[in-house]
Amino acid sequence: MASSFRVCGSHMSGRGRVLTQFQIIDRCLQRTFGTNVVAAAQSEAPKKEEIDDREGFKTFDAAQSERQEQAERSVLVSCNSTTNEQRFLKYLSRHGDVKKCFFYESYGTYAVVEFAKQESIASLQEVITIPVVNHECMLPFKSRLLSLRSGPSADLPNSQMGPQCQPQTTMPIQELIHRLSKEESIDQQIISLTESYQLTEENTRLRFLVCSLLKDIAAAYFPECTVRPFGSSVNGFGKLGCDLDMFLDLDSISGRKAKMPKAGLALEYQMKRTNSERAVTQSILSVIGECVDQFGPGCVGVQKILNARCPLVRFNHQPSGFQCDLTANNRVATKSSELLYLYGRLDPRVRHLVFAVRCWARAHGVTSSIPGAWITNFSLTVMVLFFLQRRSPDPVIPTLDHLRGLAGPADKSVIEGNDCTFVGDFSKIPPQSNTQTLEQLLHEFFDFFSTFAFGRMSINIRKGKEQNKPEVAPLHIQNPFEPSLNVSKNVNAPQLERFVALCQESSWLLQQSETSLPDARRSAPTPWGLAALLLPSQVAGLKGRKKRKREPASERIKSLLESLKKNSHQKKSSDPK
Ligand code: UTP
Ligand code: MG
Repeated sequence: MASSFRVCGSHMSGRGRVLTQFQIIDRCLQRTFGTNVVAAAQSEAPKKEEIDDREGFKTFDAAQSERQEQAERSVLVSCNSTTNEQRFLKYLSRHGDVKKCFFYESYGTYAVVEFAKQESIASLQEVITIPVVNHECMLPFKSRLLSLRSGPSADLPNSQMGPQCQPQTTMPIQELIHRLSKEESIDQQIISLTESYQLTEENTRLRFLVCSLLKDIAAAYFPECTVRPFGSSVNGFGKLGCDLDMFLDLDSISGRKAKMPKAGLALEYQMKRTNSERAVTQSILSVIGECVDQFGPGCVGVQKILNARCPLVRFNHQPSGFQCDLTANNRVATKSSELLYLYGRLDPRVRHLVFAVRCWARAHGVTSSIPGAWITNFSLTVMVLFFLQRRSPDPVIPTLDHLRGLAGPADKSVIEGNDCTFVGDFSKIPPQSNTQTLEQLLHEFFDFFSTFAFGRMSINIRKGKEQNKPEVAPLHIQNPFEPSLNVSKNVNAPQLERFVALCQESSWLLQQSETSLPDARRSAPTPWGLAALLLPSQVAGLKGRKKRKREPASERIKSLLESLKKNSHQKKSSDPK
């Protein structure tokens, strides 16, 4: 079995291995988390111990704060495809140095402009005008979403190309399959999939900018608020096109609780009272939802879903193309995003495997962006983490209880009575000595869940061990920070059966690739390895039917047989007579 780790000339054991794995994923991280982090890790790699290398990664809070600050210095400008980039930048630079600017397309051409200093935004706002449109009236809310107006002579002549746009969506699945089929090994295929699908640096910036624009709207009521992204936008497992989960953080307002003065005087605010935290959240979201709907430029299709377990405002932000979910009082979810971020940074194989499994699940309709009885991406991610904790004799990642044991006083966190404490500093976590390749891990993932005792057992990443199921739901995955909750409560028996049947079929397919296809691997474009696993399967079409036995017969299998046939033809023709 070829391994990307070996291809890159690494040692497969001891400290050198982890360093080299970091180097492999650096390519991916570079795009998502900026060059500084990666450059630091790469330049130090040959000299320092791996433990120091991990220090090169920012903690979750540090990474978030940096991005938020960057977004505050940025504006979003609607341009057009003939905008003269140089003139545009020259015009903006009258207000201060432009640190970064990129263009993208979403219902038109847009530019994200980051100034070096915050003052530039105020300076710019002094010259921005209000549009005059015949027979229409404007709601006079001024935001950092702007439109560029230019006379014909300011645009580029027809013969010249407009600004180069950065892609904000993933390639279609057929194109991905084609691309993966050309890779040399299954490890390379998995890495290539991550590189094709993960959030880009630009897309991450745009996500933080949309949060910052939303904060400006909410600040009309709550001037000290912050809007923070959580979920796949920041946990390291986001795919281009994923939704933008946001959390309206009012802690700086409500966090300062009054104490009775021992002596002297003190003032406190008079505030309206309600009977529960939930009612407070619903009131806040109701008002902010109304503001987003009435005043938020580019925010369309606003729905207030206030009776959900976690109340939210859902809308589409047209200028970015993001489907947005705004919540309030959702600190536990932010904590689980931080935990996933940490696991993803501990070992590059974690992110690669999660991307591969999520993409595989999506290709077969095991997950969907439409709410229903599907296994969600979050549940799938927890399943992958659990599987990596269960590797024997050496796990790939530690349990959550282990991470809690390593926590210092600054890491202590209790939210609504739930202990959410775990270590945030990567350098305190000793590396694991598991050396398995991505191909081995992917294969074992399918084997593991082909035979998992879903009927009796619950998945628990806190303990890193299956536990007896406390309820009758077909799939039970304990919420890492709210142990009484099952994150996969929505999954019904037929969906779980499909998942298991697909795991069986995929394991079988990988087995064939390992034993019979050493040469066919190079015979692109016939899909093989991971690419073959993404082809439509008959199993995926089974709805509520009886459990399949191990007899896969689908397009995936046909493709495999075809490449086997090709392989034997090639062999015959090259055999000396
Ligand atoms: P999402 O369902 O949006 O998942 O929940 P996601 O991780 O962002 O993945 P995609 O790409 O949108 O499909 C957002 C976050 O809410 C928390 C998790 O932190 C998750 O990442 N969450 C979600 C829970 O804590 N429990 C749940 O049952 C679901
Ligand atoms: Mg999400």
